[in-house]
Amino acid sequence: MTSHVLDLAGAGIGPFNLSLAAQLDSIPALSVRFFERRPTFAWHPGMMLPGAEMQTSILKDLVTATNPTSPWSFLSYLVTHKRFYQFLNAEYEAVPRKEFADYLGWVARGLTSLSFGTSVREVHAADGLFSIATDDGRARARNLSVGIGKAPSRPAWAERLPKSIAFHSSEAATRLGDVKAPRVAVIGGGQSGAEIVDALLDLNAVSSVHWISRRPNFEPLDATPFTNELFTPGYMEKFHGLPEDLRLIHTRRQVLASDGVSSSTLKKLYRRLYERKLDKPGKPEHGISLRPYRDVVEATRNGSEIELTMRNGFDNSIETIEVDMIVLATGYRFVLPDFLQSLESRIALNSIGEPVLENDFSLVWDGPSENRIYVLNAGRHSHGIAEPQLSLAAWRSAVIANSVLGQPFFDLGQLDPIVQWETQGQPAALSSHLGQEAAE
Ligand SMILES: Cc1cc2nc3c(=O)[nH]c(=O)nc-3n(C[C@H](O)[C@H](O)[C@H](O)COP(=O)(O)OP(=O)(O)OC[C@H]3O[C@@H](n4cnc5c(N)ncnc54)[C@H](O)[C@@H]3O)c2cc1C
Ligand SMILES: NC(=O)c1ccc[n+]([C@@H]2O[C@H](COP(=O)([O-])OP(=O)(O)OC[C@H]3O[C@@H](n4cnc5c(N)ncnc54)[C@H](OP(=O)(O)O)[C@@H]3O)[C@@H](O)[C@H]2O)c1
Repeated sequence: MTSHVLDLAGAGIGPFNLSLAAQLDSIPALSVRFFERRPTFAWHPGMMLPGAEMQTSILKDLVTATNPTSPWSFLSYLVTHKRFYQFLNAEYEAVPRKEFADYLGWVARGLTSLSFGTSVREVHAADGLFSIATDDGRARARNLSVGIGKAPSRPAWAERLPKSIAFHSSEAATRLGDVKAPRVAVIGGGQSGAEIVDALLDLNAVSSVHWISRRPNFEPLDATPFTNELFTPGYMEKFHGLPEDLRLIHTRRQVLASDGVSSSTLKKLYRRLYERKLDKPGKPEHGISLRPYRDVVEATRNGSEIELTMRNGFDNSIETIEVDMIVLATGYRFVLPDFLQSLESRIALNSIGEPVLENDFSLVWDGPSENRIYVLNAGRHSHGIAEPQLSLAAWRSAVIANSVLGQPFFDLGQLDPIVQWETQGQPAALSSHLGQEAAE
């Protein structure tokens, strides 16, 4: 129980609020406390599958981008654990997720501003303060930071299927060990889907795996240099300044820059399938069927079987298959947490029901401007596709730290971007003749 008034209280301790706590650790003048419902730090434990790798550089850790002398960097973790030289010698192209998770856990054990095993239950605003009810009592704070992650997204057609036979990818690590079903369908062509297909191929109890993706093919993550410009503070600031309709269009077009499958995972899977062909030449059924461009429209139970009906976009046909189990690798969505219910009607929402976020990641509400509610991992459509990723987490935390402090503690000045995104000067109007062509 915190009796004095905090400058900031945080709900949830995933990587994003952990980064904020690590950056705020450099500003002892601020009094802060973060609450996490789990008993200890864990990073997507349900997706900690053998061989899983990071999709981002270790330099995109909790602090380095804006605070390279912080004791909470990945390099500092390596030095403390006396693995600096061996880490370099291992020459990872992509670092194992379990090592990055261990780094995050090390930071979480080192910071004194964190409380674990403590859910945030309710938040009320009155007299220029937030009153926060937790499992542990009450805290009062001038600002809030909501870092509760996203909720698993289950398609409507899966709602009537029991979770025992249709579970979400976020539970894969605990559920896959018990899978006894011979025919399993994995729905979703993102990184989670790919990693789960790879894990299912190792299970003796599974005789056939169907990988179904709505995307036209099993599409790679675009991590090339000009695409990576989308993961820079300069781009994020310009993106935030665009009108909402343009931001939504750009976000849709840029999906593979954040949500494609790592090319190393695609190569690994392709080679596994190729080797199966080598081992069993001429056999049509070698345990896996790859079905991209399929939109599942219905799932019906027939006894212990599930019949999946799909629309195939390649040849515009309807297709059905029977399986015994489904893994929903169908991604995540932002949901305003129940503990903000008392403030819900005071929060401005965009056209798709997400909170409208200011430049400094605080949401727009009708309360006092000095009481800010920062929301992390809710800004895909306001700040761009980099917002739900680790890439800019250290920078975002520094932006929030400066905002809480009311002065630039962290130097966030950037070099001009390499790409000229916006029209410079006053945008010219199209001549009527060109305007007509553009509209056609
Ligand atoms: C499997 C996986 C791997 C990923 N790998 C990468 C990667 O390599 N690179 C990259 O850039 N991005 C990656 N991402 C995307 C992103 O970086 C992660 O999703 C990241 O974990 C988001 O951090 P977060 O803090 O917002 O949420 P989370 O990690 O989900 O943490 C939220 C925390 O809030 C807690 N919580 C929720 N409600 C409450 C409450 N009421 N009270 C107290 N605590 C609460 C939860 O228990 C949880 O611990 C990955 C995503 C997934 C799903
Ligand atoms: N090792 C790692 O680093 C790692 C591991 C896992 C995840 N991640 C990251 O975490 C984030 C989430 O990844 P994710 O794979 O869980 O989710 P995701 O990238 O959002 O992919 C979800 C997939 O499910 C499909 N889908 C969603 N709703 C559907 C529906 N109703 N019917 C059929 N298909 C549907 C989507 O198709 P559409 O594209 O057509 O909507 C998409 O192919 C990503 O940024 C990812 O890179 C990283």
